[in-house]
Amino acid sequence: MKFFVDTAVVDEIKELNDLGLVDGVTTNPSLILKSGRDIIEVTKEICSLVDGPVSAEVAATDYETIMKEAAVIAKIADNICIKLPLTLDGLKACKALTSDGHKTNVTLCFSANQALLAAKAGATYISPFIGRLDDMAIDGLDLIAEIRQIYDNYDYDTQILAASIRTVNHVKEAALIGADVSTVPPSTLKALVKHPLTDKGLEAFLADWAKTGQTIG
Ligand code: G3P
Repeated sequence: MKFFVDTAVVDEIKELNDLGLVDGVTTNPSLILKSGRDIIEVTKEICSLVDGPVSAEVAATDYETIMKEAAVIAKIADNICIKLPLTLDGLKACKALTSDGHKTNVTLCFSANQALLAAKAGATYISPFIGRLDDMAIDGLDLIAEIRQIYDNYDYDTQILAASIRTVNHVKEAALIGADVSTVPPSTLKALVKHPLTDKGLEAFLADWAKTGQTIG
């Protein structure tokens, strides 16, 4: 499974990238707001830091303006991925941009039928939002499973990018189901390493090692 980091904060991306954990980055208007940065400037900086795709989202909702904004975003860097809303205009733009050779990420997916439409529009990625469905007492992971089955039934190339991930369990379950990518907030990505038995075991090993009086090298 590929890991994308879901943030527009450059220092957070740098830290995780240095650990070798970042296969790409996703941003959205809320994350740009949180970063306090200009969308073009910060996206350019992120694109230069990571090798993988960096999703930047259009803010327009009508086809013509979406295409104008997409042209601006596409110029930022070669590894840009244009993020589009799951609307009829967004899907039309997805089809046009994909046909022009751009990478696309169709976002705000909350149903299997929406994901089916995105695949038919040639999306590179579909972003089903797990956490926001869970917030409504609907199991977001069921949606990931439905999309996996539909995409496999018809051999769609669109990659499932599990989004709105809130817990380490979301990451595990999305991986078990077979999502291609999880986009994960930095704190959750770092939390994946944690296990109390690892800490306890390491503490015991270090204590015993100190008793040997040895050093390595
Ligand atoms: O990738 C989409 C993600 O940023 C949305 O997450 O927590 O705002 O639902 P959240």
